[in-house]
Amino acid sequence: MEEQKSILILAIESSCDETAAAVVKNGREVLSNVISSQIALHTLYGGVVPEIASRKHIEKINQVIETALSEAGAELADIDAIGVTYGPGLVGALLVGVAEAKAIAYAAKKPLIGVHHIEGHIAANYIEHPELEPPFLSLVVSGGHTHLVRVEDYGKFDIIGRTRDDAAGEAFDKVARAIGLGYPGGPKIDQVSKEGNPEAIVFPRAHVEDAPYDFSFSGVKSAVLNYINGSRMKGESYSQADVAASFQKAVTDVLVANAMRAVEEYKVDKIAIAGGVASNSALREAMKSACEERGVKLYYPSPVYCTDNAAMIGVAAYYEYLAGTRHGWDLNAVPNLKLGERYE
Ligand code: KG4
Ligand code: ZN
Repeated sequence: MEEQKSILILAIESSCDETAAAVVKNGREVLSNVISSQIALHTLYGGVVPEIASRKHIEKINQVIETALSEAGAELADIDAIGVTYGPGLVGALLVGVAEAKAIAYAAKKPLIGVHHIEGHIAANYIEHPELEPPFLSLVVSGGHTHLVRVEDYGKFDIIGRTRDDAAGEAFDKVARAIGLGYPGGPKIDQVSKEGNPEAIVFPRAHVEDAPYDFSFSGVKSAVLNYINGSRMKGESYSQADVAASFQKAVTDVLVANAMRAVEEYKVDKIAIAGGVASNSALREAMKSACEERGVKLYYPSPVYCTDNAAMIGVAAYYEYLAGTRHGWDLNAVPNLKLGERYE
């Protein structure tokens, strides 16, 4: 029997502060995954500066793509399609990737596939779990998004819950800044919390009335700010580690509670967490025990595939490729692109 030809996707991701390119084979095998992070640069300003992000993407993108191809041992001629994140994200940052992908696809006569960034985050779970296939439930927790999603099929999503205000990662970043940990806050809070007592301070766990799967993190963020301002006014010091650990516990408690409510209501037996906050050690531990109790299989990507990367975009692009998704040369960056929305 003739061996089936492999499908190679060259994927590009530039929606925020990482310039990334990857080559992915048959949607599951990462041949290269190159990430040029701008974190050190943005740390100077305490957060991502969109204008600087765009300029850095322009400087780095060609080199990052060349490295991704050479590390994969591939040439452009071997590539079957170009996948690129076209939303959501910072418009100027997205545009760099989209323009680059269009130029390469046009010059090399390859199909162009625009990918939704969150679809990419969810697809990151396919890389290390060959047995994982839809349907399953996904908790997407990143710097810009907090969603509970029913993944009905590849590329087919039903959002059942979302944040009403801050995203989980955004709350981590803001609290980290307030307690003097700097940017990016998530990994620092994760680290410092290991030295703190998560029960030291009781911060609020918000539940949204009549929307059991929605989230709200602005209350817990304000409670932390009030707590540290109160301490300062009284001239008292507070324990950075206890505040971090107690805040982290308040956020992860709500994430796990809503996810488990959905697991029970929708009777799912698989849940995959995704996005930068999915690398949080307390969230992983809490999800592990909650899932074990209920006999539910938990999936999560390695940390490098949780935060922004192009391999996850390559995986999502592969399934879009199989489904026949092709974009034209008018593909544009869509900063507020909705999950499941098709841009024609
Ligand atoms: O998915 P991502 O790289 O970018 C977006 O699509 O937004 O997520 C970045 C977010 C940041 O808010 C960062 O602080 C958070 O993920 N993050 C973490 C951890 N690692 C990254 N939050 C908590 N614990 C971590 N270990
Ligand atoms: Zn992301």
